Amino acid sequence: MGRGPGLRKSLAEKFDDELKFFKGWIDKPKAVGSIVPTSSVTARKMASVIDTASGLPVLEVGPGTGVITRAILEHGVKPENLYAVEYSHDFVEHLRRLYPGVNIIEGDAFNLNEALGEHSGLTFDSVITGVPLLNFPVPQRISYLESLLDRIPAGRPVVQLTYGPMSPIPPGRGNYTVEHFHFVLRNIPPTRLWIYRRPAN
Ligand SMILES: C[S@@+](CC[C@H](N)C(=O)[O-])C[C@H]1O[C@@H](n2cnc3c(N)ncnc32)[C@H](O)[C@@H]1O
Repeated sequence: MGRGPGLRKSLAEKFDDELKFFKGWIDKPKAVGSIVPTSSVTARKMASVIDTASGLPVLEVGPGTGVITRAILEHGVKPENLYAVEYSHDFVEHLRRLYPGVNIIEGDAFNLNEALGEHSGLTFDSVITGVPLLNFPVPQRISYLESLLDRIPAGRPVVQLTYGPMSPIPPGRGNYTVEHFHFVLRNIPPTRLWIYRRPAN
């Protein structure tokens, strides 16, 4: 990998990311959600839930500029063990350039079977998601979560980033638990992280 995930980003790269993000936001504000890329503090916190010892691949959804992708790789996930599904073609091209070994998939998070294609039968260790759920109706958020939980072992986490004060997926509406994981002030806007799991029997 030319620009390894362990390397600090140059200012020019950071600026390029922010421009891409801003362009994505202008083109599709509803899909991008925030107006500034996720902070590295948030990204590291999200990646911290991954159990690299499981040997299972990891699924990232809505990677955008790749800040969280970088944190996942720095956490110790091998690029070939990371599958990242992104809707925006511009972000996909950017991510493929930045992380050539990672499985960057252009597709819709709300139709993961089609997006993952031949990989749709994989079991992942955990899921890291930045899809802006608040922009979608609650029933769609719930079926999105269920489709993620179906791809990981019971008890393993789906981590979701959100800008609202409440869990974007209400408790008591399916076979999952809801846990407030973290509040990150050092993010624009401040962000909450939520964890959802299938109860382990
Ligand atoms: C809040 S941004 C997260 C960005 C990323 N964490 C970053 O810092 O650049 C949401 C991302 O989800 C993507 N997205 C939105 N809807 C999507 C969908 N249905 N399927 C896949 N990706 C989607 C957007 O294109 C955007 O990259």
